[in-house]
Amino acid sequence: MLEKFIMAPPDPILGLTEAFLKDSNPNKINLGVGVYKDNLNKTPIFNTVKKVEKFLLEKEQTKSYLPISGSPEFCENVQWLVLGKNNCAISEKRVATVQTVGGTSALRIFADLIKANIGTKKIWLSDPTWENHAKIFQTAGFEMGTYPYYNPENHGLAWDKMLATLETIPEGDILLLHGCCHNPTGIDLNKEQWLTVADILKTRGILPLIDFAYQGLGDGLEEDAQGIRTIVEKVPEVFICSSFSKNFGLYNERCGALISVCADSETCQKVLSQMKVTIRTNYSNPPAHGAHIVHTILTNEDLRKEWEQEVKEMCSRIKTMRKLFVEKLKEKGVTQDFSFIEEQKGMFSFSGLTKEQVLRLREEFSIYIVNSGRINVAGITTDNIDRLVEAITQVL
Ligand code: LMR
Repeated sequence: MLEKFIMAPPDPILGLTEAFLKDSNPNKINLGVGVYKDNLNKTPIFNTVKKVEKFLLEKEQTKSYLPISGSPEFCENVQWLVLGKNNCAISEKRVATVQTVGGTSALRIFADLIKANIGTKKIWLSDPTWENHAKIFQTAGFEMGTYPYYNPENHGLAWDKMLATLETIPEGDILLLHGCCHNPTGIDLNKEQWLTVADILKTRGILPLIDFAYQGLGDGLEEDAQGIRTIVEKVPEVFICSSFSKNFGLYNERCGALISVCADSETCQKVLSQMKVTIRTNYSNPPAHGAHIVHTILTNEDLRKEWEQEVKEMCSRIKTMRKLFVEKLKEKGVTQDFSFIEEQKGMFSFSGLTKEQVLRLREEFSIYIVNSGRINVAGITTDNIDRLVEAITQVL
């Protein structure tokens, strides 16, 4: 029977890393997958994470299962980190949070939860969005629509077109938004735009799902959560998928959360019970290590301060690289205006490079960029930037 299988194409993002690892060019550069690199081109373990790991090695008493919904301390602290400690949705007990296997399984648990409890729904994704969004929701049996997001003419937000589409979304559909550091464009909504979107969601009865994988890498941990908090303040029902891959560097620990804000606490209990059913039939219960690290850092005053500083440093290195990248392109005599790269937020920059240019960079220069032209700015270092800029000028 198995001969019926057909070969699946490589993953557009993680498949690039597979190709990169096989490349024997010693000067190869990987700007594909969204993984932070320091200026030595390493993805180091945070100091704070190492400290907690040392502590856990000595003090951890058991490897017994976590509850289906994960570590309660972790879930509580994640709610505070995302929504703010004084958020009235929390004090009104209408927030339910479960720990998930990274941000990706938070999305999939959401999809399965909605499908099982409300029936198949249509979800609206930004154009463009993270490559995996469409696949997750397609696999879960959703219908999909897109709303305009990127304006290629000015490399900014296609705000008017986006609004016009949001105004057509029927009641009961789901709108997927990026909480900050939009992946892949790096273009975020401003305060007024979040307010406008919140009004539309509320008046039209659209359910928001906010993907929040980069908190702290745009303008700061608090600043990056403002859009989400605006939506939660105005809209009675909201889902949020958080990831701690980037802002704690816990990529391979697969640590994330699914937060559900409900209209009242009774509904919240019902939603939580169904989230547990969905998790139990997916992976039973989540892994403990990453969650222990996150909640220990968030609850220890000294560790928390040090971690906040570590996130700030990542954020500021990315900003420095954006600036340097734009400057170097100018120095090289590139007349095309790339200054928009400095305005974009988070790890990614939608460079405007075409698929053909991206493929030439890969084949001729061993520089790996996602086909859409998305560059992981966090992969640029003072060591590889000249080679990168030189190669780009060759393919422009
Ligand atoms: C990315 O967009 O590169 C990251 O979110 C990693 C992934 O899983 O695709």
